[in-house]
Amino acid sequence: MEQCSTALEKLVKIGIALSSVRDLNKLLDIIVTQARELANCDAGSLYIKDGDSLKFVVSQNDTLARKLGASQQAEPFKPFNIPISNKSLSGYVANNGVIVNIPDAYDIPESAEYHFDKSFDQRSGYRTRSMIQLPMKDNEGGIIGVLQLINAMDSVGQVIPFSSDDEEMLLSMASQAAVAIKNARLNDDIREAHLDTIFRLGIAAEYRDKETGNHIRRMSHYSTIIAEQMGMPAERVEVIRLSSPMHDIGKVGIPDGILLKPGRLTPEERVIMESHTTIGAGILKDSNIPLLQLSQKIALSHHEKWDGTGYPDRVKGGDIPIEGRIVALADVFDALSNKRVYKEAMSIQETMGIIKDGSGSHFDPAVVGAFEKGMDRVMEIYEQYKEL
Ligand code: C2E
Ligand code: SIN
Ligand code: SIN
Ligand code: FE
Ligand code: FE
Repeated sequence: MEQCSTALEKLVKIGIALSSVRDLNKLLDIIVTQARELANCDAGSLYIKDGDSLKFVVSQNDTLARKLGASQQAEPFKPFNIPISNKSLSGYVANNGVIVNIPDAYDIPESAEYHFDKSFDQRSGYRTRSMIQLPMKDNEGGIIGVLQLINAMDSVGQVIPFSSDDEEMLLSMASQAAVAIKNARLNDDIREAHLDTIFRLGIAAEYRDKETGNHIRRMSHYSTIIAEQMGMPAERVEVIRLSSPMHDIGKVGIPDGILLKPGRLTPEERVIMESHTTIGAGILKDSNIPLLQLSQKIALSHHEKWDGTGYPDRVKGGDIPIEGRIVALADVFDALSNKRVYKEAMSIQETMGIIKDGSGSHFDPAVVGAFEKGMDRVMEIYEQYKEL
């Protein structure tokens, strides 16, 4: 009786733990670790259904890890796909949604449709004995993947078969895991769609400028490098990375005749051009999403100057949001070091001359200092996303 409640408690704890992990890769790893703990076994792997094949995504093996030792580098684990067919054990489990529990993998009855693939053991010198494979069914009964555990052990480390208690516990854990995977994937999809949309919005703003996405990528990287060099916490750096691409979104509201003019702007045209800051802020205003709130601040403040002579609000020094000060430098560095419709590219030396001259007048000196500290990485990005 006591045993039962401990098992149930363990399962509940695992369920709670799994549902809190948002990162899919981390989640897959935790599932295998928890399952191995639950069944006290030496090794475990996870296959995820991927179209009509199974993708082998996680592999843990205590014995082999010990054998390799700390000094030696393990062969890097590469995911691979196997077709879902009844011939392989995992394929059989995925196809039929049943548990296969075998006391010795080398002693599968002739009558069985599936067979055990010894190639892994042959390569690694490992001896797979008891093995259990379980279907991971989500809340709608769909099979998400297969959980495979190898070599259950008794209290003195002898390999024993997986018990029917193991089967029961692992099966309910496998479905909890399947639901957690489904949710994490949904999160991943939404996050990806979100980020993709943000980058595309940024590119839309530059599109008529004949800019490629490279300008947006460089800007985002330069801003990230500066924020890191200033010692900002990682999450804050990430938000800057993702919100900086929209700094010029307001350029969608600037007429072609001005935005694409090959020469210098007249004072009247200049006034219209400068409104890209307030237009951008207007597009991004009133969002509940913190990322877009920061994008709005950046769109509004990225042409303010440290000495208060910028636009649109002539804000000065520390009153300019730090993210606006960071993007201002990244933006000018990129504008100078690349060709624009209205100007040729300058060399890095010339560009840095102008940036340093502007320290304390145009730019926050602390931001210039951070940029200079990160110059090696800046140059990597410059080379990587160079306009050809
Ligand atoms: P942008 O081309 O990305 O330039 C961003 C900022 O880089 C400029 O903000 C300016 O601070 C700096 N910058 C760019 N080129 C030079 C340069 O040759 N020398 C120096 N010292 N700084 C430079 P700014 O001036 O507020 O311009 C904002 C945007 O307005 C520019 O973005 C560009 O799209 C447009 N723009 C500015 N001047 C002209 C121009 O003469 N002709 C045209 N067609 N567009 C212009
Ligand atoms: C399989 O037979 O499908 C997999 C067996 C293994 O991973 O060793
Ligand atoms: C461009 O002028 O092509 C891009 C300008 C910017 O992002 O500041
Ligand atoms: Fe701008
Ligand atoms: Fe810009």
